[in-house]
Amino acid sequence: MNENEIELSKKNAAERAVEENVQKNMVLGIGSGSTVVYAVSKIAEMNKTENLNLKCIPTSFQSRQLILENGLELVSLHQYPEIDLDIDGADEIDKKLNVIKGGGGCLVQEKIIASNSKEFVIIVDFRKESEKLGEKWNKGIPIEIIPIAHMPLSKKMSKLGGKPILRLAKAKLGPLITDNGNFILDVDFGTIENPSVLNEKLRAFPGVVDTGLFIGLVSKVYIGQKDGSVIVLKK
Ligand code: 5RP
Repeated sequence: MNENEIELSKKNAAERAVEENVQKNMVLGIGSGSTVVYAVSKIAEMNKTENLNLKCIPTSFQSRQLILENGLELVSLHQYPEIDLDIDGADEIDKKLNVIKGGGGCLVQEKIIASNSKEFVIIVDFRKESEKLGEKWNKGIPIEIIPIAHMPLSKKMSKLGGKPILRLAKAKLGPLITDNGNFILDVDFGTIENPSVLNEKLRAFPGVVDTGLFIGLVSKVYIGQKDGSVIVLKK
């Protein structure tokens, strides 16, 4: 796969989403990941040139840094519990606009922000589109868990037909620790026939904080194509 094509498609999707959705005086949710980086620099450019008076709520440590580095106003969900627009990336998107998120490990805060936003806009490149979730994203559904529940939850996930793997840190021995001090299990369920039912089953296990299945939350998706165009899908 051509890296330049991928980066260009992410940038095009991000910039188009920002141009078409960001308006003056908005409270914005700022997602996490590499595609969001392009969105934040476009938001910062528009905020400066058009004096938009935007307030930005982060979904992770990374996105907090992005907001600050781009000179945007950082605010909290405590101050602004109702968000106008949340822009975020995704790992996979299906035909019904359900998505898998959490490849970057930020799914819990991302879901809180998304579910408190009037509009939730997803920006992705052409590799992320599938008929059904689990078709292309084969690293498993990211599930944030309370650390002491790691072993019993792994067993329960296996009984449900999943293959759980504890996500490990990159430059430290042992598990990755999320921004909330928890672990992540990546659980491969293959192609998922009914993501909503699976999500509810997973969320019902004590010790599960939340899953990377975002069901019925997305309002619009911007998908950057190889040829430079952007396809927009709406709910
Ligand atoms: C982080 C996420 C990201 O939005 C998702 O992994 C997509 O990232 P990228 O834009 O780098 O492909 O859910 O938790």
